[in-house]
Amino acid sequence: MTKHKTRLFSGIQPSGKLNIGHYIGAIQHWVALQNQHHCFFCIVNLHTITVAQDPNILQEHCYDLAALYLACGIDPKQSTIFIQSHVAAHSQLAWILTCLTHMGELSRMTQFKDKSQQHSQHINAGLFCYPVLMAADILLYQTNLIPVGEDQQQHLELARQLANRFNQHYDKAFTVPKAYIAKYGNRIMRLQDPTKKMSKSDTNSRNTIELLDSPDIILKKIKRAVTDSGSEIRYMPDKPGISNLLTIFAQVTQQPIEQLEKQYRDQKYSIFKQDLADSIIERLVPIQEAFHLIRSDTQQLDTLLQRGASEAELIANQTLSRVQLALGLLTRHA
Ligand code: AQP
Repeated sequence: MTKHKTRLFSGIQPSGKLNIGHYIGAIQHWVALQNQHHCFFCIVNLHTITVAQDPNILQEHCYDLAALYLACGIDPKQSTIFIQSHVAAHSQLAWILTCLTHMGELSRMTQFKDKSQQHSQHINAGLFCYPVLMAADILLYQTNLIPVGEDQQQHLELARQLANRFNQHYDKAFTVPKAYIAKYGNRIMRLQDPTKKMSKSDTNSRNTIELLDSPDIILKKIKRAVTDSGSEIRYMPDKPGISNLLTIFAQVTQQPIEQLEKQYRDQKYSIFKQDLADSIIERLVPIQEAFHLIRSDTQQLDTLLQRGASEAELIANQTLSRVQLALGLLTRHA
């Protein structure tokens, strides 16, 4: 394990099939950042159960997610990859932080308002307290940097407030984390409705490019993606469809949007879409090949995840003990 001065924590919920939004908005950055920081990449399965899950499918999604982290280029020799529920300190610190959090702070969370509307039959206290568990995830590792998309900025602010609150009232047990916000690609939108975020839980598969979609399917979905009125290929607020496609194109080919606008100035949508699909396929096929190889050996994945949990636990338990001591909670002798 490399020894970097700064620590970074991030995670994805194993709540469904990953799409190109997760790659562009999260994993692609992680791969670049892992050389500069000690990174903790978590599979946040405790967050996933805030919405009812099929237990067998949840397990499969955890392995799939771990295999995708690796296939996309997360290096387990440099970074700590682990499953949240393997490290008990996440739940333990979450409870302590829950007791420091005001009801009003959680009631204001826009993601809670959105998700409780989506899952109105199943609004549980876990969904309400989700940001506190996220604060525990981050604070356990004395994390300096958190890559966040737009949706998570409010949650990160709560983590910072809780860290400051604890540090002021009890003991300076926590590092106060900062956000890492990427300039582009924070919010890849649905292909059929570019005003909404591309999401795992979306039931309309035509909205998403899944990381494991076959080349044929990718081409079909891109061809059917909605474009806006007019024929210009420009990144503009009143062209959400084409702007979204330009963002994806720029991210998978690592070139500026302006360059693509120039290149496709006098081209038809059909040519632009064909080239975009080809670029996505070129980027995803090697990931898919690596994924199938890694995923076929569950035992090796298990070994890697156990090792990751042991590495994570070492640091998490140190933070937890310090917090428990500061609060006057008696800790067990080793
Ligand atoms: N569409 C997106 N564009 C850019 N980044 C995205 N992320 C997710 N969707 C997009 C980033 O991926 C990371 C982890 O996401 P998550 O699964 O933990 O939570 P989420 O944002 O709630 O993802 P979904 O797909 O919308 O999940 P469901 O449908 O289960 O609620 C985060 O860094 C996020 O920014």
